[in-house]
Parts: sequence; structure tokens; C-alpha cells
Amino acid sequence: MKIRTLTLALVAAAGLGIVPLALAQSPVKVHEDRVAKMKEIGGAMGRINQNQKEVSAHPQIVAAATLINNHAKAIPGWFPAGTDLVAVPNGGKNHSKVEIWQAKAEFDAAAKNLEAVSADMIRIAGGTDNNAVQEQFKKMGPACGACHSKFRSPLQ
Ligand code: HEC
Repeated sequence: MKIRTLTLALVAAAGLGIVPLALAQSPVKVHEDRVAKMKEIGGAMGRINQNQKEVSAHPQIVAAATLINNHAKAIPGWFPAGTDLVAVPNGGKNHSKVEIWQAKAEFDAAAKNLEAVSADMIRIAGGTDNNAVQEQFKKMGPACGACHSKFRSPLQ
């Protein structure tokens, strides 16, 4: 009887268009979308690494840093409640630790830090100082690691 009441309430809520945000998309899809976006960030880091020693390649670095900067702004929204690795194991592919939601402010600050270091890279690679580009790249990897070390479980 209770389950039936809940079902009816959910059907009514859906009918009114009040679907809770976390249910608007399947949690597995939320997980897979954010991994795809993280991989785009990884690809952009690879392009910066390849191009960091040539002034003539600074435009490619600006492009890659811009992708990272835009994604960094969106990171906090990729982690709705209920999509951690316990709730949504997704065959062991979900690496989002519950700590993300226990320390969401710290997690969001790590995303902000990536946003800041990538913004600096856009500005620096807009110029012709190649040493400054290489120095800035050294700050980008740690911005990933700072978040992964606390909030991402080890990849197999
Ligand atoms: C604010 C936290 C945060 C920052 C900053 C961050 N990541 Fe991630 N990243 C995560 C989390 C959490 C996961 C696990 C996602 C999941 O499985 O749900 C992840 C997953 C990934 C993956 C996917 C691994 C896989 O195959 O499952 C890649 C690649 C990646 N990150 C690259 C990067 C790179 C490169 C940077 C820096 C330029 C970066 N990330 C910055 C939190 C972050």
C-alpha cells in the first residue's frame, strides 16, 4: 500500500513536470557523460604538453586551455547527489568517491582552481613568452592531482 502511494505520488509529480533533478537523467548517463568530459580535459592537457615548447603553437595552447577553462566551470554541475561510486557503481567504472558530497565546498574549490590556472594559461599563451607557458603548464597538472588524490578512487 505504501509503495503504491509513493508510485502514485511520483506519477502525479511527473505529470506536473516536477521531476527531481537527479531523476531527470539516468545516474549511469550522468556518470558516463562526466567521464567523457573529463577525457576531453585529458586530451586537451595532452595537446598543451605536445605544443608547450613552440611559440608558433601558442594558438593551439590557447584553444586547449579554453576547453579546459569552460569544462572547469561546469565541473560542479557534473556531480549531482546520488551519483557516487556506491550508489552507481556502473560496473566498477565510477570513480567518484562519496567524499565529493561530504566536502562539496572543497571539491568545488578544486574545480575553481583549475578554472584559474587555465585562465592564466589562456592569457600567457596569448603572448610570445614560451618560458612562461612552460612554467604555467607545471601548475596545471597539480590542479588535476589535487582533486583526484582526494576525490577520485584509483583507476584499476
Ligand atoms: C574538482 C575535481 C577534479 C578536477 C579539478 C579534475 N578532475 Fe578529473 N576526475 C575527477 C573525478 C571525481 C573523476 C572520476 C569521475 C567518475 O568516474 O565519476 C575524474 C575522472 C577523470 C578522468 C577519467 C578517468 C577514467 O577513465 O575514468 C580523466 C581522464 C581525468 N579526470 C582527467 C583530468 C585532468 C587531466 C584534469 C586536470 C586538467 C582533471 N581531470 C581535473 C575530478 C576532477
